[in-house]
Amino acid sequence: MFELNGRIALVSGAGQSVGEGIAKVLARQGASVIVNDLFADRADKVTAAIVEEGNRAVARAFDVTDLDATVESIRSAEAELGGHVDILVNNAGVAEGRVTKPFRELTPDQWAPSIDLNIYGAMNCIKAVIDGMCDSGWGRIVQISSGSARTGQNINVSMYATGKSGIEGFIRHLAAETGQYGVTANIVALGLQANLVDKMPPEVIEKLIASIPIGRLGDPIEIGAFCAYLASNEAAGMTGQTLDFNGGSQTR
Ligand SMILES: NC(=O)c1ccc[n+]([C@@H]2O[C@H](COP(=O)([O-])OP(=O)(O)OC[C@H]3O[C@@H](n4cnc5c(N)ncnc54)[C@H](O)[C@@H]3O)[C@@H](O)[C@H]2O)c1
Repeated sequence: MFELNGRIALVSGAGQSVGEGIAKVLARQGASVIVNDLFADRADKVTAAIVEEGNRAVARAFDVTDLDATVESIRSAEAELGGHVDILVNNAGVAEGRVTKPFRELTPDQWAPSIDLNIYGAMNCIKAVIDGMCDSGWGRIVQISSGSARTGQNINVSMYATGKSGIEGFIRHLAAETGQYGVTANIVALGLQANLVDKMPPEVIEKLIASIPIGRLGDPIEIGAFCAYLASNEAAGMTGQTLDFNGGSQTR
């Protein structure tokens, strides 16, 4: 069960953290993985680690907000792997240069990065792979989102949450349009992840962990395992859903 042998998967923003975990698990399940990141060194490192485990991966550094670069890089990876992308995990969602402040302190030019990446970046990747999926009668799209898309929070992430809310709405409509072609699309809304330890003071991390029923932050390999399920043949009947993966956190 949940085997992905013979499938080609693209994971965006897979050069570290959550995306790295997803790429590794999909490859362990048998998929050939296109490891995307904005930074070539990150994509190369994760690709080398997957190959080291005896699995198949190719690195492609490109900016998902650039449609031409996205299409061109995916076509070249597909040619190298000998097939089309069957599984897309839109994971890239933390924009370089994003400014986190209360909305009143943001200038209009600071609104765009998180919205561009989470909406247009995700749609560009979908645009590049959706015809191949629909024409072949099989495809899986997994959109990584956040609980912040559906909950107001006073933590300076309103633009990020705007991008996540927008793409969640799009994915539900996409799922309704593409179900007839055997292409599913689901949203995995994450809670707080282990990589926050590097970004916040220990006392803040301690407080955050106290709010999570399982008593710890999220693990990229566990998220990868959930994505492997959603990408599998066995998940053919699961589509258009927003699935919280957050350790039971009620605050999302
Ligand atoms: N970390 C958390 O606590 C948390 C919580 C909820 C949701 N999420 C979501 O999980 C996903 C992964 O988050 P993370 O914490 O692992 O992020 P991260 O910043 O650790 O890694 C993301 C990777 O994406 C790459 N990237 C950024 N912009 C890109 C672009 N335009 N094109 C291609 N690659 C790009 C970065 O270079 C980076 O290597 C995101 O969608 C994020 O919104 C994370």
